[in-house]
Amino acid sequence: MTSHDARYVIPRLHALGFGGDWNPEQWTPEVWDEDLALTQQPGVNLVTVRVLSWAFLEPTPGVHDFGWLDTVLDKCLAAGVSVDLATATASPPPWLGHQWPQTLPVTDEGVRLAYGARQQYCPSSPVFLERALLLTEAVSARYADHDAVVMWHVGNEYGAHTPTCYCDVSAEAFRAWLARRYGSLDALNEAWSTAFWSQRFSDWDEVIPPRRTPYFPNPTQQLDFTTFSSDAMLRLFTAERDVIRRHSPPDKPITTNFMRFFPHADYWQWADAEDLVSDDWYPDLDDARSHVEGAAGADLMRSLGGGQPWLLMEQAVSAINWRGVNPPKTTAEYRRWSLQQVAHGADAVLHFQWRAAIGGAEKWHSGMLPHAGPRTRSWRAVVDLGAELAALREVAGARTSASVAIVLDWPSWWALELDSRPSTGLSMVGILKEWYEPLWRRGYSIDFAHPESDLSGYALVLVPQLYAVTDAGAKSLISAAEGGTTVAVGYFSGAVDERDRVRAGGYPAPWQDLLGLWVEEYRPIVGGSTIGLRPSEGSGLGARPQGTASVWSEHVHLTGAVAVLEYAHGELAGQPAVTRHDLASGGRTWYVSADLDAASMDALILRIADDAGVEPILRSAPPEGLEVTIRETPEKRFLFLLNHGQTAVAVDPTTTGDPAEWRRIGADPSVDGTLDVPAGDVVILVANQERTSVAR
Ligand code: GLA
Repeated sequence: MTSHDARYVIPRLHALGFGGDWNPEQWTPEVWDEDLALTQQPGVNLVTVRVLSWAFLEPTPGVHDFGWLDTVLDKCLAAGVSVDLATATASPPPWLGHQWPQTLPVTDEGVRLAYGARQQYCPSSPVFLERALLLTEAVSARYADHDAVVMWHVGNEYGAHTPTCYCDVSAEAFRAWLARRYGSLDALNEAWSTAFWSQRFSDWDEVIPPRRTPYFPNPTQQLDFTTFSSDAMLRLFTAERDVIRRHSPPDKPITTNFMRFFPHADYWQWADAEDLVSDDWYPDLDDARSHVEGAAGADLMRSLGGGQPWLLMEQAVSAINWRGVNPPKTTAEYRRWSLQQVAHGADAVLHFQWRAAIGGAEKWHSGMLPHAGPRTRSWRAVVDLGAELAALREVAGARTSASVAIVLDWPSWWALELDSRPSTGLSMVGILKEWYEPLWRRGYSIDFAHPESDLSGYALVLVPQLYAVTDAGAKSLISAAEGGTTVAVGYFSGAVDERDRVRAGGYPAPWQDLLGLWVEEYRPIVGGSTIGLRPSEGSGLGARPQGTASVWSEHVHLTGAVAVLEYAHGELAGQPAVTRHDLASGGRTWYVSADLDAASMDALILRIADDAGVEPILRSAPPEGLEVTIRETPEKRFLFLLNHGQTAVAVDPTTTGDPAEWRRIGADPSVDGTLDVPAGDVVILVANQERTSVAR
């Protein structure tokens, strides 16, 4: 048995993981041998086995067939390929839906979905849970001590296809969840504001999920149902996790794969329940800014794990099969986007899937081994990336230290994007990206944070959008600012509490003192119009126009803050648009009451960061298209330079922290002054640590 080393997220794998989903049940045993022989070429060291193979492990209810899996795991061990063993419960076999139709999910319009695809289960079904746990019990008891197995993979992409179910079983579970949350029907009536539209409940049995209604369903009912649904799926995860924990040695971590900015599960809660975070990323090749989402999503994964390295559980080598048009990734994109995830904290680059399928719904999804076999461009790309990751072995376990945090809260996101709001034009992820991208472009290390977490360790906390905030969340921001953290808050934040009830008395009620202002009225902008912005007198920005708002504006009254930008036209002409407020305790806050165009947002965010004294990674601003990140171990620092642009750039790798004697990993190790990063390329530098302290 390999020794346990706390630095590594997979303690039994002292390297960056490389591999993917391996589905031997789709192939004959001869192909298994060919597969394992081929894994040696790119240096595959980790495969996720049998994610969706329930029907093969339990062909009929209660009858198990483990023979083939015994063979597969023994062969993996002999080949030196470690296994992330899945519980296989994400795709129930036809017999489950056929014998127990009540396990099949029901839509808000009352349509019961059929088996024939996957993930066709009601998250609240006791029958599904029972059958899933019986399988998990059998599998974990049998394989927990198998030396090929180094970690566990529970379910798969919870909620990807069925995040909610509106059936009667779910309705009953929802009522029980609400009874625990509110204690009494009176409290529920109060929280849901049922005095409105005569929605008052007189009996618990009247309470139902937000099924299809003639007009807007009750907003708090919708919000609670989304939270309940996330909890219901999480309960399935933790139940399987607990079964595994009863059998498995503790150094075999348990995870389930996330989907980045996935709107249906509160990943802060989910991450707390896992031993390590893993994630799937399928960039949209039709989006020229996919790499920015690639960076933000990876930072989110690192942050969800409290800074611990995470695993890229799935990506495609080349084409996928589920968007409208699915072109192949270029070799450069595949390499750059893979290394980008490592640059932001991933300690494994895994794929869906090892060998491209020849039948079924995903036969046009690329695999590491394509239909045409190893004589292909994409196979060579896989072999090259495998070699590169092997050379980066020392990066495993390295951390990133950030002085900037961006606040993200799932329930607030859900509440923001419900119907019946002042504007349906607000997208949580869209707003996050507008705040993230300027910092990313300048090369700051960025964390994401939960609003109720301790934010005081950051020099700068950005709150792009926090429509709904709990009392604890509101206080956490105030105490960070009072402790000297600079806090910047975006429009329409702090508007309601966690029940979606307005915090009245001038918005944002919890932060009027913090921000030194109050907002009289929200003024979303009708499609197509814009409002110009200009520097306020005394802001030191001169009189030049400073961009436009096109989605949102607010009528702001100052009570201590000073205006930095003001509205230039219309009814708000001369009123503050962006403000700054110095607190008596020494902290500084900013309020951004309008959406700004990209260039103005860039200038504003960089000004706020600079003003807060946050240091970017490099002393000189990176050229356009160049992404910079840093990871550190107690012994080494690694500087990643990724050129997403179309032209070569020259970079001065002098960092703003301690000076470092950089050497290049790979090719010619010397670095003399500036270095060139060709278009689409990635250069990784390493230096010995000059200092004793390491990233948190
Ligand atoms: C998801 C699933 C995989 C596969 C891929 C295809 O990530 O987890 O099983 O369907 O999508 O892109």
